[in-house]
Amino acid sequence: MLVIFLIPSFLFPLGDASLPLVINTWPFKDATAAAWNTLQSGGSVLDAVEKGCAQCEIDQCDGTVGYGGSPDETGETTLDAMIMNGDTIEVGAVANLRRIKNAIGVARAVMERSEHTFLAGESASVFAENMGFIAEDLTTDKSLNIFAEWLKGNCQPNYRKNVIPDPSKHCGPYKPITTLQQDNRTSHINIHSHDTIGMIAIDQAGHVAAATSTNGLRHKVPGRVGDSPIIGAGAYADSSAGAAAATGDGDVMMRFLPSYLAVEQMRAGADPTTACKMAISRIKRHYSEFFGAIICANTTGHYGAACNKAPSLSTFHYMVADSASDTPLLKSVNCF
Ligand code: GLY
Repeated sequence: MLVIFLIPSFLFPLGDASLPLVINTWPFKDATAAAWNTLQSGGSVLDAVEKGCAQCEIDQCDGTVGYGGSPDETGETTLDAMIMNGDTIEVGAVANLRRIKNAIGVARAVMERSEHTFLAGESASVFAENMGFIAEDLTTDKSLNIFAEWLKGNCQPNYRKNVIPDPSKHCGPYKPITTLQQDNRTSHINIHSHDTIGMIAIDQAGHVAAATSTNGLRHKVPGRVGDSPIIGAGAYADSSAGAAAATGDGDVMMRFLPSYLAVEQMRAGADPTTACKMAISRIKRHYSEFFGAIICANTTGHYGAACNKAPSLSTFHYMVADSASDTPLLKSVNCF
């Protein structure tokens, strides 16, 4: 059985520095343990982040990773994932993946079994089937129930705009209105409707990898892709600087490439906490109430996190395992 201890990160402004290191968003401790055990048994950092994210896909972490969560407007669950090798800057990503539960495995297959970086939609699923991934229905009783409740509630929350009938009151089908109205974007996103596993692993020799997996946004417009599979948005890894992984309102966050920004800040000498804060601040300037957080780690094993103080997020929890602890530790950071 895993024992976890909660340690406020303000006690360690730079974080502990110890390699190897696994760090991931949210209190998904079994994912941390899966990644850590992979490293301890001789697996590579890519193996570690793949196994960690795959564990969350199996566990359906918080209902927001893996099958059976976040049904779209038609009730279907689709998955986004990416994996990045910080040594070679190779990336594999999938978006809007249908029928396949192991999205992070497919992302790795894109990286290792094609010359491409990113596959999306039905064709990504066909690629996965051809690579031996099993096609399964991603729907569960829970996702059917979430979908049924949404229909019963006049399709609220709803992400359409500038269409008729009024999407804040009615279900579709929708048609565009001729005059665009001002965008008064209200966030429907909170910790329950929305999060992602983002994970970083760094080994003793300083090899860095990062990965993400999510089922995206509950009641999304079919075809919607979030930040998680977008390189530099959901995650970024460069073994000459460090890695970062983000979670939150991907429609907003992907516009700022926060993971890339944080890694570049660390390359320029910022400590991980400062780099994370700079990435959050950049978004905050335009979207003061966005829901989001980011984790950062540099190649010496220092790490940090930051989050935007929003109505539904005041403290962000994340997990760390390193050789100093040898067991997943729950960490927290106060949002600013
Ligand atoms: N951050 C996950 C998403 O927006 O899909």
